[in-house]
Amino acid sequence: EGSVYAAGVIAKIIREKAEKGEKAVIGMATGSTPKSLYDELVRMHREEGLSFKNVITFNLDEYYPMEADSIHSYHYFMRKILFDKIDIDPKNYHIPDGMVPKDQIKKYAAEYEKMIEDAGGLDLQILGIGQNGHIGFNEPGSPVYSKTRLITLDNNTRIANSADFSTLSDVPRMAITMGINSIMNAREILLMAWGEAKSNAIKKSVEGKPTEELPATLLQHHYN
Ligand code: F6R
Repeated sequence: EGSVYAAGVIAKIIREKAEKGEKAVIGMATGSTPKSLYDELVRMHREEGLSFKNVITFNLDEYYPMEADSIHSYHYFMRKILFDKIDIDPKNYHIPDGMVPKDQIKKYAAEYEKMIEDAGGLDLQILGIGQNGHIGFNEPGSPVYSKTRLITLDNNTRIANSADFSTLSDVPRMAITMGINSIMNAREILLMAWGEAKSNAIKKSVEGKPTEELPATLLQHHYN
């Protein structure tokens, strides 16, 4: 039900923008949470004619280092679950490049931010949440003004994500993620969380004091 609701929010933005001849700019998340959302968008595309021709997307994050073609990459995830099943123009979706040489990441991250800005900024950002309150891969301690950057993953994030890998040591130790500030600049934010494992992080995010120690609490400062 939550995914159908979220898909409805996205579809409304896409259709309203299409009527005006404008692009819809959507921030995408990966992980287990949005899978049912993407299934619903694919269904709307196939059965209701929802077109993604006017859609530009930016994904929150990618492991580092990570080849785009690896089955563990978020590039692969997004293509397989969504992009290859809809009519989005491949040049309109963007996912951080997990193979940028380390000494060029700063420049690359600034370019990623610039691309979002040039597209007109995010109309909507979709988020999941880590059990430690991370959004994107902004782990506890991520500054409120942070932008896209390289980050070291928390051990509990690596453990949570290890189900997708053969062993824990195969889970990358780093990721490139949009920052808290990049997320907060979206005109609307929709955070999805399913199941009891997320209840503690959600309780703190909604009822706790905003703190960089639990990044999702910072969303309390967003106006929409
Ligand atoms: C993924 C992302 C992460 C996940 C979070 C929850 O792009 O940015 O913040 O949303 O780790 O992951 P799942 O949905 O697998 O529980």
